[in-house]
Amino acid sequence: MTLEEIEQGKAASLAEIAAADDAATVEKLRVKYVGRNGSIPALIKGMKDVPKDERPAFGKAVQAWRAAVEAALAEKGAGAKAAGPVAAVDATLPGRWPAQGVEHPLSRVIADAARIFGKLGFTVADGPDIENPFNNFTALNTPPHHPSQDRSDTFWLAADALLRTQTSPVQIRTMVAAKKPPVRVICPGRTYRRDTTDATHSANFHQIEGLYVDTKPVSLADLKSVLAYFAKEMMGNDGAGVRFRPHFFPFTEPSVEVDFTCHVCKGKGCNVCKQSGWIEIAGAGMVDPRVFGHVGWNPDEVSGYAFGFGVERIAMIKYGIPDIRWLYENDLRFLRQLA
Ligand code: DAH
Repeated sequence: MTLEEIEQGKAASLAEIAAADDAATVEKLRVKYVGRNGSIPALIKGMKDVPKDERPAFGKAVQAWRAAVEAALAEKGAGAKAAGPVAAVDATLPGRWPAQGVEHPLSRVIADAARIFGKLGFTVADGPDIENPFNNFTALNTPPHHPSQDRSDTFWLAADALLRTQTSPVQIRTMVAAKKPPVRVICPGRTYRRDTTDATHSANFHQIEGLYVDTKPVSLADLKSVLAYFAKEMMGNDGAGVRFRPHFFPFTEPSVEVDFTCHVCKGKGCNVCKQSGWIEIAGAGMVDPRVFGHVGWNPDEVSGYAFGFGVERIAMIKYGIPDIRWLYENDLRFLRQLA
């Protein structure tokens, strides 16, 4: 083939490719010109027969033809087609995993609490988010003038309906439904307060209530041992102890605030526990006789303890989460870190 014939062949091939208007034709032309047995590779193979002094010019012309044809084919989308189904599956690529969800830290704390208290014979009780004032306040010995009933603290929906401010009303529901002791329940759930949101407050948060009432005498020491077991199990701290500090709640007498041994420094004192070695976790106490009166139980015949703690607070302490809002944003980058 002379240089002139190469130029003619090139022009003809480019015209053919330009005229091709379907993928099959483009593919046919690709095979015809640049396929393994195509005319251009044949020319390249035949180069050895070209006289030595003509070879450089010949080679250059053939390569230019090939480049022009390949460019024209690529423009017609031949690359993708030519690659075909075989190249589309690259078996050497790492596999793609379907996205997998992780358990939300709040769900995990609730599930862990149910498991831990479950081993001690507690079952899980439930109550509605919309409560009546009797269950949320009156039966819990909280009089109408108490500040927690104020419009600025409680979401009132009507005179006889509110968003529960605590899970304690489930105590009342449980005792009313059981009709007689013993009852031994925990009650996880949503609670609502008119709090302005910041790093440690949210208008909607979660609590877990606990209640044990029996006809045999129940003591503060029983409460302490149960909470000490819970502290060890929940915080993964074998050496955890609990400390009671006197406090006041309307529905318990005596009332205490409960501290766990700091799980970070094991009680030595660190930044997390503000050098005290203790972390405040829960409110608790012996059920007030007047609460039993409200559910029709004779306080001379029954006794019990109750406790309540914040799920967010436990999650934040346990997983080192500095801002409560992170628990509600569902940012997968955050949630995956806790997987
Ligand atoms: N309901 C209390 C609160 O929201 C927490 C609490 C304290 C619950 C003492 C109890 C208890 O059952 O005995 O702050």
